[in-house]
Parts: sequence; C-alpha cells; structure tokens
Amino acid sequence: MQGGYHQPVLVEEVCAALAPPLTGGVGDRLLVDVTLGGGGHSDALLERLAPSRLIGLDRDPDAIAAATDRLSRHGARFHAIHAPFGELNGALDHLGVTEVAGILADLGVSSHQLDTAARGFSFQTDAPLDMRMDPTRGPSAAELLGTLDHRQLTTILRELGEEPDASRIARAILHGRPQTTFQLVEIVTAAMSAPQRRTIGKRINPATRTFQALRIHVNDELGQLDRLLHDAPERLALGGRLAIITFHSLEDRAVKRRFAELSRAPAPPPGVPIPAAALPRARFRVPDGYRHGQTPTQAEQDLNPRSRSSRLRVLERAA
Ligand SMILES: C[S@@+](CC[C@H](N)C(=O)[O-])C[C@H]1O[C@@H](n2cnc3c(N)ncnc32)[C@H](O)[C@@H]1O
Repeated sequence: MQGGYHQPVLVEEVCAALAPPLTGGVGDRLLVDVTLGGGGHSDALLERLAPSRLIGLDRDPDAIAAATDRLSRHGARFHAIHAPFGELNGALDHLGVTEVAGILADLGVSSHQLDTAARGFSFQTDAPLDMRMDPTRGPSAAELLGTLDHRQLTTILRELGEEPDASRIARAILHGRPQTTFQLVEIVTAAMSAPQRRTIGKRINPATRTFQALRIHVNDELGQLDRLLHDAPERLALGGRLAIITFHSLEDRAVKRRFAELSRAPAPPPGVPIPAAALPRARFRVPDGYRHGQTPTQAEQDLNPRSRSSRLRVLERAA
C-alpha cells in the first residue's frame, strides 16, 4: 500500500515551508496534516523535522488505515484522527491542543480514491455513483441527485465544474437519474452540444467537468475549505505556518483571497494621529517567496503529471 496509495506533490517545498524556526515558545513542535491520504507528506515531515510530533486528520477511513500503517514506525510522534478538516477546532480541542507550529492541507482526492472503482469517483470504471470521501457519512452522489431541481443542478455544474452546457446536461441527468458512473458518462456525452463534444472530447472525457462538480458538491469541498481558512490561522503559534496545496482555480482563489485579507493591517481609527510605530499591524503575513504561491518544477511535472495543476500557498502568524 505504501508507494501505491498516493504520490505526494511538492514534498520538498512543503518541508521547507513548515521548517522555519518559531519565534515563540513552542519548543516541542507540533504539526497537523489535515489531509493525511497515504501519509506521504506526513512521513517526510516526521522524518525531516524530528523531533516534531504530528497529528493527522482525514475524512476517509481508508486513508486513516493506510497512513496509520505507514507511519507506525514513528511511534507516539504520530496520532491519527478520522474527521473532516472543517471540524479541526473540535479535533484539536478534544486533544487539549491550543496552538501548533504548522498545518498542512493537500486538497482534493487521492489516487487511491480515484483508482478504487467502488468509490465511484472515476469515469473510467463502472461503479455505483457514490463519490463520498467519507462513505460513513452523508448522501452519495446518486442520492443527492434525487434531491436537486434543474436550477440547483445547473448552478452546481456551472459554478463547480465551469461546464458551458450546464443547463442541458442538468436536464438530461434529472431525466435519466443515473445510478452508476458509466450511466452518468453516457447521459452527459449524449446531452452535450456537438461543438462542445468535439472540442472537449479531443482533450478530456466529456464528463470530466460534471464529475468534478458533483464530487465538490457531494463532499462540500468549498464549505470545508472555508471553515479551514477561518479556523486554522487562529491555531498557529507565533511564527507558525499554514501551507495549502490547491489543484484548481476555485480552491486557489479562495485561499489567495483569505490569505490576502488576513495579511492586511486593520485600518487605524479615523482622525486620530498615530505615530508610525504604533499603527496596527497585520496578525498574519504571506512570507517572502510565496506571494504567487509555489508550483512544481518541470522535473516533478514530468515524473508526476498529476502535480501539474498544484500550487502551494503559505501564511505565517506574524504578531
Ligand atoms: C491529495 S490527498 C492527500 C495526500 C497526502 N498528502 C499524501 O501524501 O498521501 C487528499 C486527502 O484529503 C482527504 N480530504 C479531502 N477533503 C478533506 C476534508 N475536508 N477533511 C479531511 N480530509 C479530507 C481525502 O480523503 C484524501 O485522502
């Protein structure tokens, strides 16, 4: 399971981002990986940033099992929790942890999730239309589709999949009520307008955008990210860092906006002269070298084509 579960991206960059010395008093560095997956990033962090300890979260029980297996050699330095990162505060409170030196989120799905046909994430194999990262919670994609009307499904396909044929595809899906991945592919391909099918079909499977949109919706991925962006910065010790790897523009935009907002100093009270040294400072900053985020080297992209769309953004607790 070790090498095959998931090949992590930007490993060097993540270790470098979470390595700087803290200026505060957290001697015993505590890191949190909120997307354990197969434990690749966590393994590298535990290896290179010893004697740090690491708490790992994942909403997928398969990931918890795989990472626990892989990271057992680190003994008590590693602790796994089965929870979505939208519940980070509850998970840390439960362990009595108030602040940490670093938090990593490597968003999206793992190769294991995509490659396990029965999970229903992939349009390349036929399986029940499930798509839940945590199969123990919430409705599957097929069940959710049964609760949506045409307007809601069109919005999901347009906003989360950037699908130009959203309205006609939504109508066909609601009419066809797909229960399996291949039924969904068939319905989407038939519903797509001929010009779209010709242009998209040359590069990607015509159902790619629909699958992406449904997956994001089923797992409330943007809602989860919003909660993480709200809670995680407040958990950082002085000098601590939050590192987030995104894979598409919807995620990246949300991370970039929130980091920019948190790095702005609060406006001084109007009309009161304040000496420069006493002006309110921002509590967070985007460290030098991370303004545009970091992307994988050409060598990494050649070795791991899935890394191509990845971008690492970093926020630091400054004051
Ligand atoms: C790209 S993989 C992470 C791979 C990992 N960094 C590694 O080195 O193997 C993303 C993982 O995040 C998990 N995940 C996605 N959204 C999550 C959320 N809201 N809460 C917790 N885990 C989540 C998925 O279940 C998946 O295992």
